[in-house]
Amino acid sequence: NHYFYYQELDSTNNRARELAAEGYPEGTVVAAEMQTAGRGRRGRDWYSPNQEGIYVSVILRPLLPLKEISRVSLLTAVAVAETLATDLNLHPLIKWPNDILINNRKIAGILSEVVTDMDSIEYIVVGIGLNINNFPPDFPHDFRTPATSVQAECQRPLPRVQILQNLLFNLENHYQKLLQGRFGDTLEKAKNLSMVIGREVKIDTLNGFLTGQAVDIDDHGFLLVRDQSGTIHTVMSGEISLLS
Ligand code: BTN
Repeated sequence: NHYFYYQELDSTNNRARELAAEGYPEGTVVAAEMQTAGRGRRGRDWYSPNQEGIYVSVILRPLLPLKEISRVSLLTAVAVAETLATDLNLHPLIKWPNDILINNRKIAGILSEVVTDMDSIEYIVVGIGLNINNFPPDFPHDFRTPATSVQAECQRPLPRVQILQNLLFNLENHYQKLLQGRFGDTLEKAKNLSMVIGREVKIDTLNGFLTGQAVDIDDHGFLLVRDQSGTIHTVMSGEISLLS
């Protein structure tokens, strides 16, 4: 594998996209100690102070149709959650599609960016931001969702390198399963770790707001939501507010 490590970058996703465009293969990893323009979903910033978090992006080149991209986001969330649960004994939940929360506080986020060639995937850059050694008072307090970190949850500082190794190991494991047609195992885990299934939600989707009960995650990784009239909507992406 190719590993790129930087003291500082604008964004590991930006660097990984450049490398992917240059032809770097699947499995190429880009990590930085800090980001000056870390990006979150929906045009938001990702707070990336020096040596306090893991800021990493991975290039993937799955030979899959575009509609399977949501599976990649979901499996990344499962890999992050597993890393926190198995190796650090924490109890994270996944807020669909791919925020990781502990006690309703966000500990990690994922930004997947896809470049397509007709309707197949040319490459995906999966960017993961994981708060490790920040202490909550350090977070800017205009955060939409309150934030937490591994240190705040474990009550001690933790080495980032080992957490990163475990994370990459788990990511590879779930990604291999996807390629082998065994996404079912990962999907089961995603459902078990989901903090939205069974709850009343309001989702900000590309087509406006949708309110209803989140009932399941389907085989593509899409969220199924039942509205008041009983109609089931398939939601491919969006931002969830929990109403219950
Ligand atoms: C979100 O929850 O909005 C997604 C946050 C993703 C942050 C990571 S940090 C590493 C990678 N580089 C970026 O610029 N963003 C992602």
